[in-house]
Amino acid sequence: MSEKKSAIDGGNHAALWHGRFAEGPDAEAVAFETSIHVDSRMALDDIRGSIAHASMLGKTGIIPSEEADAISAELAKIAVEIKTGKLEIDTSAEDIHSFIEGVLTDRLGDAGRKVHTGRSRNDQIALDERLYLKHAVPDLRKAITDLISALVDIAEKNLDTLMSGYTHMQRAQPVSLAHHLCAWCQMLVRDCGRLDDALKRIDLSPLGAGALAGSGLPLNREMTAKDLDFSGVTANSLDTVADRDYCIELTACFSLLMTHLSRFCEEVVLWSTEEFKFIDLSEKWSTGSSIMPQKKNPDFAELIRGRTGRVYGNLIALLTMMKGLPLSYNRDLQEDKQSLFEAYDTALSCVRIFTYMISTARWNKDRMAASCVGGYANATDLADYLVRKGMPFRTAHAVAASAVRKGIEKHKNLEDMSLSELREAAGSDLICNDVFERIDPRKCAEARRTTGGPAAEKVKEQILELRRFIK
Ligand code: ARG
Repeated sequence: MSEKKSAIDGGNHAALWHGRFAEGPDAEAVAFETSIHVDSRMALDDIRGSIAHASMLGKTGIIPSEEADAISAELAKIAVEIKTGKLEIDTSAEDIHSFIEGVLTDRLGDAGRKVHTGRSRNDQIALDERLYLKHAVPDLRKAITDLISALVDIAEKNLDTLMSGYTHMQRAQPVSLAHHLCAWCQMLVRDCGRLDDALKRIDLSPLGAGALAGSGLPLNREMTAKDLDFSGVTANSLDTVADRDYCIELTACFSLLMTHLSRFCEEVVLWSTEEFKFIDLSEKWSTGSSIMPQKKNPDFAELIRGRTGRVYGNLIALLTMMKGLPLSYNRDLQEDKQSLFEAYDTALSCVRIFTYMISTARWNKDRMAASCVGGYANATDLADYLVRKGMPFRTAHAVAASAVRKGIEKHKNLEDMSLSELREAAGSDLICNDVFERIDPRKCAEARRTTGGPAAEKVKEQILELRRFIK
């Protein structure tokens, strides 16, 4: 603990409310229970909440309006001083609430002692968290839409960049790079939707729930809610101080977002290998090896994949913290912020880093096109060709499979056989010269015009929708 004199009551941060105790806590005990290192990031939200609360106390006549005005004015000053660095947050205070109340009381005396009228740190912390999340979550959402926008830019330039689509990590059917990137965009769009949905439930003011049972003073909860831009007030005071659903829900959203990034990173790692060589990461977003001079490693993708586990850990920590708690407030709840903030910070930095990494990468179109050749990725198209000629699909599947089997024996791709070779391999003379139009990889992708499919015109529709979403 610092020996430095605290701004609060001559160094005794607990003096604001420890009147019941004859003895002060040991330094080690204080260090154990303190949360200011974690909750001071909500300092400005805490002040914003206190200004709204004080102003309501004045307007309802619970405290004299001049004193309410003095409190609000001083708090506004404190906010500026914190922002400009003039006032340093004293980390010997227990939490951000006691620090700010202490500074206010130091400066205003009795008027400062009135700010906490009809309020508890239990509803105060719930308010601070909600206020903080109401601006922090949109920042993350913006980072996600920036990533979608970067991916759409790449997709737009690669509508005709052919690549193999994979199932079971085996070449399956030709698609385009644009189609593949838009698939990732769809997941990110759903991630945004989940954040929006969680924000709706956060948008209720907890202020006035008090320690757990509201207040006997004539507080006007609706007034502070309106002042703080909440759409309403929470319905039950016990639930309000005991609830951390929103932290868990958001951390679950962050976890799912990280799952998507992690999977995408797995592809980036694979695609950077000599074996694939689909992608060439910029040197800025790659790292070297301390021993192997030739190496250019996709460490950023690996780190994002690795950090995903930490976010899952935060989610499990929150769920576990919550599962045994009776109503209403319990101090266990203080542990929520570390997990929530770590998950949030990790998700935000990963989205941003991924965006830089992917938008500066170069795409190897030749290698991607080559992945459509040699794996019989057009076998379904041969079967579809026969279906168009009236053959039942199950029979056509067997016929195309026979062509593949013969092709493997003869080391020949379907499209490289002559018409008579192909007829013989397939065992069907329904096959005519127009088949080669159908089994050319580019034509295979183009032929898939179902909504959501890889045909350029269909991917263009998706891109249009995605652009609309970003706006
Ligand atoms: N720091 C606490 C939290 O984050 C808020 C203070 C409530 N403390 C208390 N002993 N009731 O939940």
